[in-house]
Amino acid sequence: MTQDEKKRAAAQRAVALLPRDEYIGVGTGSTVNYFIEALAAVKDDIRGAVSTSRASTELLQKIGIPVVTLAQSGRLPIYVDGADEINRSLHMIKGGGGALLAEKIVAHASERFVCIADDSKYVAKLGTFPLPVEVVPMARSLVAQELIRMGGKPELRVNFLTESGHEILDTSGLNLDLPVTMEEAINHIPGVMENGLFARRPADVLVLGHDKGTEVITVSATAG
Ligand code: 5RP
Repeated sequence: MTQDEKKRAAAQRAVALLPRDEYIGVGTGSTVNYFIEALAAVKDDIRGAVSTSRASTELLQKIGIPVVTLAQSGRLPIYVDGADEINRSLHMIKGGGGALLAEKIVAHASERFVCIADDSKYVAKLGTFPLPVEVVPMARSLVAQELIRMGGKPELRVNFLTESGHEILDTSGLNLDLPVTMEEAINHIPGVMENGLFARRPADVLVLGHDKGTEVITVSATAG
């Protein structure tokens, strides 16, 4: 199976995990695009969606799923999103598509986070993928200096602004062995809006697409 076929298989399997007649959270990225494609078949069973990007909003509306704000939906029973890397504890690096701020908010507002991914994303150790750090533009160089002090090598994502008007420093070289500690430490730097470590609120379920089909992995099955 190609990487795209694995993404599509994982996305299709996640549809079976959705509750009926509820609002759902929808992430951003190519794997989520397959998920939205698969939602078309069950759209009448979905009350509406909270979207994390303009791209996902457009696709959801195109298939006739109402998009609402988090204020309208309240807490969500489920959030489905992709990842750039996910480890055995279901901690993730996200933000390759630059939607990390909205994704972190919707993840926090959701009872259950279902990550959908192809097997190239499932790693023993986080950190090969540079960690996206979203910054207020005026603080960019100060934040970069702090990230260097923490052992990182930040690189400005060129010609890119997030939907909230922020810049992204893609940061390699950080030691992510204690991802919760690192997530909190980076977010304490003034000028940082959010970073792409999803460890304080990891995924609850990983639906992984691989050569033999799909597999549903939970933290309890992977711990220890
Ligand atoms: C966007 C994200 C995506 O979930 C992540 O980049 C994975 O994308 P894809 O499904 O295209 O591989 O965090 O901000």
